Amino acid sequence: MTASKTQVSITPAGDVLTLCGPSGPTRFHAIWLRDNALDADTRDPGNNQRLITMADIPTDLTISAARANGDTIDVTFDPEGKTVTFPLAWLAANAYDRPQDSAIGRLPAGATAWRSDLNGDIPTGSLPELKSDKTRLRDWLAGIRRYGFAKVTGMQARAGELFEIVSLFGYVRETNYGRHFEVRTEVNPVNLAFTGLGLQAHTDNPYRDPVPSVQVLACLDNSAEGGENMLVDGFACARRLLAEDPEGFAALAGHSARFAYSGSAGVALSSQRPMIELSPEGMLKAIRFNSRSWAPLTDVPFDRMETYYRAFRRLSDIIDDEAMEVTFKMEPGEAIIFDNTRVLHARKGYSGEGSRWLQGCYSDMDGVLSTLAALEAAQ
Ligand code: FE2
Repeated sequence: MTASKTQVSITPAGDVLTLCGPSGPTRFHAIWLRDNALDADTRDPGNNQRLITMADIPTDLTISAARANGDTIDVTFDPEGKTVTFPLAWLAANAYDRPQDSAIGRLPAGATAWRSDLNGDIPTGSLPELKSDKTRLRDWLAGIRRYGFAKVTGMQARAGELFEIVSLFGYVRETNYGRHFEVRTEVNPVNLAFTGLGLQAHTDNPYRDPVPSVQVLACLDNSAEGGENMLVDGFACARRLLAEDPEGFAALAGHSARFAYSGSAGVALSSQRPMIELSPEGMLKAIRFNSRSWAPLTDVPFDRMETYYRAFRRLSDIIDDEAMEVTFKMEPGEAIIFDNTRVLHARKGYSGEGSRWLQGCYSDMDGVLSTLAALEAAQ
């Protein structure tokens, strides 16, 4: 919308304003415009917080006049007799009179689904550089938004160093497991045939509501043979299920699963959330998948239960498919960070002598996305 070519009109009832620019007409409701007024009585100029409630907007609100004025338009609302100025660029950026994307299972903005061929393109940042270089930090955070995970190199291989990673964007999410948790294994040095069990790829703590949406795993020692870390894009798996079995996808997205944990004294966590969570508009929001914390499924109607389990089994097979995973062995001083609402993680089996010591902690994606948005806005 450019000022010189923009024409403004209002309906006879004063309930809708139409801007006619080179790209066609764009409509705005009177109530929407009044609600989003940019004046200092409606929005605090300092913190941009809204200063009114719905009760402050008259129920008989209308637009009595609208006039283009350079790069802005002035809109007068009755019965308040209040005139508010809107920049045309602001209206263009916030226009809602457009085709809405309603494709089921689509990815969030900025996200790219991946499979095993991502291996050469893993977002990686060196901790000292991420601390000192805002551009590198921005790009690394954008990698987490895009792929749901990133690697960190250049850390000190010492206890507590993982908190330095969280400090780049947010705060530790403390749980009943503590501020952090230890993942420490001494591979049986007596029986060299001993093979550590692998774990199926999973999301952590689906029995929490909300789940911790970020996990950081830092490597302090990894001298055992094997023990690679594996990551799987849950969104890519869900989209593959959708392509192969739309009815099954709808069953997993349309019914609550149950997850529970009561493995320590005084703890009885449970949640009732879908395995595949969509926004009301059909966008992928979250994956919850963890066989060890699965609880009896009681929210699926009898006549859909077999469809549900068919889809559950298929999603499990897709998650186990090597074509979906990236695998790497972390060295001491390296870490991974991943979106626990999207990316599933696992440990491959290991064998031989040696030890494996990781430290993990939780945080949340709102800090990742907030820090990223602030860095992008500062460009
Ligand atoms: Fe885990």
